[in-house]
Amino acid sequence: MEILPSDLQAYLDQHCEPEPEMLITINRETNLKVLKPHMLSGHYQGRLLSMLSKMLRPKCILEIGTYTGYATICLAEGLVEGGEIHTIEVNLEMEEMIRKNFKNSAFEKIIFPHFGDAQHIMLELSDKNYDLVFIDADKKSNFAYYQLVINQLKPGGVIIVDNVLWKGKVYSEAQDSDTRLIREFNNLITADDRVEQFILPVRDGLTVIRKK
Ligand SMILES: C[S@@+](CC[C@H](N)C(=O)[O-])C[C@H]1O[C@@H](n2cnc3c(N)ncnc32)[C@H](O)[C@@H]1O
Repeated sequence: MEILPSDLQAYLDQHCEPEPEMLITINRETNLKVLKPHMLSGHYQGRLLSMLSKMLRPKCILEIGTYTGYATICLAEGLVEGGEIHTIEVNLEMEEMIRKNFKNSAFEKIIFPHFGDAQHIMLELSDKNYDLVFIDADKKSNFAYYQLVINQLKPGGVIIVDNVLWKGKVYSEAQDSDTRLIREFNNLITADDRVEQFILPVRDGLTVIRKK
């Protein structure tokens, strides 16, 4: 189930910035060679991530869930001079493609890929202070990731969380365990006084959370 009507989404796609050539290549190769290509952020969401990053001008970004590196490159587009992005992927079968994609991008020197379980790697990165975090891995761990990272987020820093509408199931009667966990995550964020948040109905739902 799409959140937005497909004709509206098509119109939105036609009226955002074109997808950069490098990202067209990653998108195409992911669709040809990798399982579950729908996990890639894609043109419209990718341009939104790029735009938000350019508006925030972050010095340090964390992405949880690299997949083929599409969103990593979108987020890297907004880094200030001397900035860096750390991205974590648990699936070691992706490592070769991820490294190749970053090498072929304009951002190889400022992207730091990490391979392993995100919660372990995040502890290794506990000296970092983030301006921008993108949570896009195993949805059941969203709150654990949020709790781990919130103290490392600078005031005014932003966390973006993907798939928060869960194909519309969070506001339906669905009671399966995944839906309940995402619903609970959304409720916990809404009740957290340390932050202000806003759900964008983009693709599967993106929450933008700003630390006060
Ligand atoms: C939705 S995809 C990420 C898509 C990518 N951010 C993008 O927008 O193009 C989710 C990724 O998270 C990874 N992942 C799942 N559980 C993880 C974990 N515990 N630690 C790190 N990565 C994990 C998956 O292997 C998968 O590649």
